[in-house]
Amino acid sequence: MDSLITSVARDLAAASRVVALTGAGISVESGIPPFRGKGGLWEKIDPMEYAHIDAFMKDPAKIWQVLILEMKNVVDKARPNSAHQGLARLETLGILKTIITQNVDGLHQMAGNTDVIEFHGNFAWQRCMQCDHRLETRHIDLAQMPPRCECGGIFRPECVFFGEMISPDHLNRSRQAASSCDVMLVVGTSALVQPAAFMPVIAKRSGARIIEINSERTPLTRDVSDLLIMGKAGEVINRLLTEIEKLR
Ligand code: OAD
Repeated sequence: MDSLITSVARDLAAASRVVALTGAGISVESGIPPFRGKGGLWEKIDPMEYAHIDAFMKDPAKIWQVLILEMKNVVDKARPNSAHQGLARLETLGILKTIITQNVDGLHQMAGNTDVIEFHGNFAWQRCMQCDHRLETRHIDLAQMPPRCECGGIFRPECVFFGEMISPDHLNRSRQAASSCDVMLVVGTSALVQPAAFMPVIAKRSGARIIEINSERTPLTRDVSDLLIMGKAGEVINRLLTEIEKLR
């Protein structure tokens, strides 16, 4: 493990353009449960029944009560952990350029990263489905379910539901970032949801080294990743930073 950390730290310090793709695993140490695996959200609730756009359109009050309020309770309390802070430090050092995140929790921005592509949207804002008025989630009146705008329309979070398209702007910017990096860090994602999981493939085809940080192997590990540093994101990123700072 020590020699792996040292060699990846050297790669990162020498790289000219590093991009990170992050998933729910990076926020686990902030108290936000992942989606899959033990303790995952999709173990408690069926995503097709609660996280599909058709389910939301059919019964928005039910989705608000079960999924959105649960997410709000968890996200409201969450603060960046040492993995988010470590990626912010990598940006300050001039090493990390862009984060493509599948997370909607806003923790990368809170930690200080300035170029964050929110691939699956964000949870900080709600949008009225009738008049497009936007309101911060923290200002939403939860007294009525589903919450409604002054115009009478229903509010929905600005996150992507299953069955919805990724914003073309986010997709284009992510493809661009993936195809122009020389190292991609893939942190805390099961790499099971497309098209996000395709970004490391684009990076690899464009000649980048793919370094995974995950507590488990993923479908990328064997054929796409150059190496996997197995462990908790916060711990691994901190060890990498300690080595990088020594090289400066
Ligand atoms: P998942 O829950 O599918 O995967 C989390 C990954 O993080 C797994 O591979 C774990 O092994 C790993 N992990 C857990 N704890 C970790 C830790 N402390 N350090 C490092 N790794 C850890 O989450 P995502 O891959 O982000 O989509 O899921 C992708 C998408 O599926 C989400 O954006 C969401 C979901 O349905 C939408 O909401 C549209």
